[in-house]
Amino acid sequence: MKVTVFGTGYVGLVQGAVLAEVGHDVICVDIDQAKVDNLKQGIIPIYEPGLGNLVKQNHAAGRLNFTTNAELGVQHGDIQFIAVGTPPDEDGSADLQYVLKVAETIATHMQGHKVVVDKSTVPVGTGDKVSAKITEVLAKSGREEFSFDVVSNPEFLKEGSAVADCMRPDRIIIGTSSEQAEELMRELYTPFNRNHEKVIVMDVRSAELTKYAANCMLATKISFMNEMANLAEQLGADIEMVRQGIGSDPRIGYHFIYPGVGYGGSCFPKDVQALIRTADNIDFDAKVLKAVEARNNEQKTTLFQKISKHFNGELAGKTFALWGLSFKPNTDDMREAPSRVLMEALWQEGARVQAFDPEAMEEAQRIYGEQCRKGQLTLCGTKESALNHADALVIVTEWQNFKAPDFTLIKQQLNLPLIFDGRNLFEPKRLSKKGFTYYSVGRC
Ligand code: UDX
Repeated sequence: MKVTVFGTGYVGLVQGAVLAEVGHDVICVDIDQAKVDNLKQGIIPIYEPGLGNLVKQNHAAGRLNFTTNAELGVQHGDIQFIAVGTPPDEDGSADLQYVLKVAETIATHMQGHKVVVDKSTVPVGTGDKVSAKITEVLAKSGREEFSFDVVSNPEFLKEGSAVADCMRPDRIIIGTSSEQAEELMRELYTPFNRNHEKVIVMDVRSAELTKYAANCMLATKISFMNEMANLAEQLGADIEMVRQGIGSDPRIGYHFIYPGVGYGGSCFPKDVQALIRTADNIDFDAKVLKAVEARNNEQKTTLFQKISKHFNGELAGKTFALWGLSFKPNTDDMREAPSRVLMEALWQEGARVQAFDPEAMEEAQRIYGEQCRKGQLTLCGTKESALNHADALVIVTEWQNFKAPDFTLIKQQLNLPLIFDGRNLFEPKRLSKKGFTYYSVGRC
């Protein structure tokens, strides 16, 4: 099938590549010429396991093409995906200007029936706005005879396993009231709908809300567990035991109940905020979501509070080894990363940071070039070199190769045998036997 994807960001690029991989004929459109040129050479702008090869192979096979020519893109696909960004605007609502601009572009160039699919995470009601925009542009240019359908088809991929998530989706949500569009979307996704039925068809608004509800539910689980962890610390309980105790109930489950330093990334913080704003706009007080957000913002400061308390607030001139900059493992993404809140708080108090991350070093340099120049941040080539004469080790992201470090070396390198662990990677008893003072989350 002929497919066009507008936007070669995370969602659009993965979606385009995966659709090409199963044999569809895909054109990805982006306004950024340099990005398009790079993609044609297989240079991808993000770190995502497997994506580079997928792009290269499918481009070489002629099934995946990249262009800045929107008209060409509109003419190509019977299905037109909108996968451009919806950044939060000042009050936290999703900014729809890019989505609506693509709708306008499609309407301007379409010559026959098009199925326009919202893949970006967009607030409930966006499908109607896209529809209205296309109708308006068609009317203005006297081309009312062209028909179209608008479908909501949200994406549920996770950074770090985006290709696998997209190749083997848990569910395929198709929001539409048009039988013709439903049929086309079912055909498009047939290669991904093996073993058991994964397609769930619903109306557009329900599909739009499904995406937000899924992310907000996951964010709620995390904030709830972080609240329990903080409580456990005060009550002298061990959250890791509590986690196993409650996870064994299948109604709760073991997934997504790891306490830590708060959720980050490009989705949860933005989507929780956006749904709060959507609710506010209709005078609905989203009490649970507001609490989820408040707990998360506070959780991002807990490591700093522990560090500050340990040193009686005297952090000026201290040096901290930081392991993990990305918001989670297997990505170089530092958007809304807890590491940033921690580093900025440490700098504020006059401390220095020596950081290592397996993938996010360039990103850290890009964001904190000034702090690097000022000597507040040193980006180290290895996790060991970050330890050099630091006053403590702080772990923020649970990368695999942080999980069994050489503790003897850590002790030798640090000024003090002191670890602040935001991800509960180690056993407190074992660390204390090794002579470390060890702080973790929700354990005494
Ligand atoms: C998320 C959703 O999982 C995905 O379905 C959606 O499409 C986009 O948003 P992503 O942002 O890539 O994906 O990250 P995810 O793996 O879900 O982790 C989000 C954050 O939650 C991370 O900061 C992670 O450290 C944190 N987290 C996750 C916890 O603190 N505890 C947990 O138990 C799980």
